[in-house]
Amino acid sequence: MASNIVILTGAGVSAESGVPTFRGPDGLWEGHRVEDVATPQAFRRDPVLVQRFYDARRAALSSVQPNAAHKALARLDAEWPGELLLVTQNVDDLHDRAGSKRLLHMHGELNSAWCTACDRRTPCTGPLLENPACPACTLSGHLRPDIVWFGEMPYHMEAIEDALLGCDLFISIGTSGNVYPAAGFIDLARHAGARCLELNLDPSMTSNRFHESRLGPAGTLVPALVDELLG
Ligand code: APR
Ligand code: ZN
Repeated sequence: MASNIVILTGAGVSAESGVPTFRGPDGLWEGHRVEDVATPQAFRRDPVLVQRFYDARRAALSSVQPNAAHKALARLDAEWPGELLLVTQNVDDLHDRAGSKRLLHMHGELNSAWCTACDRRTPCTGPLLENPACPACTLSGHLRPDIVWFGEMPYHMEAIEDALLGCDLFISIGTSGNVYPAAGFIDLARHAGARCLELNLDPSMTSNRFHESRLGPAGTLVPALVDELLG
């Protein structure tokens, strides 16, 4: 009987596409203080700085492509006969563009805007700095990045926890295990009795909680794992 798989990805799965990670040597947080660009307080204090930070990351999406890891995960999504859920911490659209369907963005998406006037989310591919009108309520000056900032509740947590408590295999790819609740998913999976596998370039903060850790680039390890799983 095919097992139920939950996969968690972090910035490391997009690194080989040229998307900077957060805590690496050239990491995004190296250039900015989190509290200056990734909190609701920062947005209230300096909306121009925050909009400019996310406008730049959104614009950069058009020059990056899904890599072999994204494509292998999309193949697994299409061919796996059991239940499968891919939960990503990433706000890029590379899993979407690779073709993954059973996918949840727990930290939001660069290609979505959230209107604080009407509380609706709408697709967004351009800059928000110029205060475009909300496509839903037509008011201007109320669109913020649809990104879960520090101190805000990640999206889809109930569905994610349900999937973790019912899975037989939990795979974590390209995340440092620094940020909760994602870093705690391993504990839910172990509680469910799942086999827990980590694929990462370096040991993470939670490596010791996995049954197996494979160290190396996602672009190499993930296609090999998908071949193993699909036989
Ligand atoms: N292949 C596999 N893993 C890689 C690769 C690669 N090519 N390159 C880097 N990594 C690993 C690093 O070893 C590191 O452990 O990816 C991880 C990236 O860690 P972070 O930069 O901390 O990113 P992430 O774990 O996704 O951060 C989680 O923190 O800042 C918040 O909201 C932000 O979603 C983000 C969350
Ligand atoms: Zn609106």
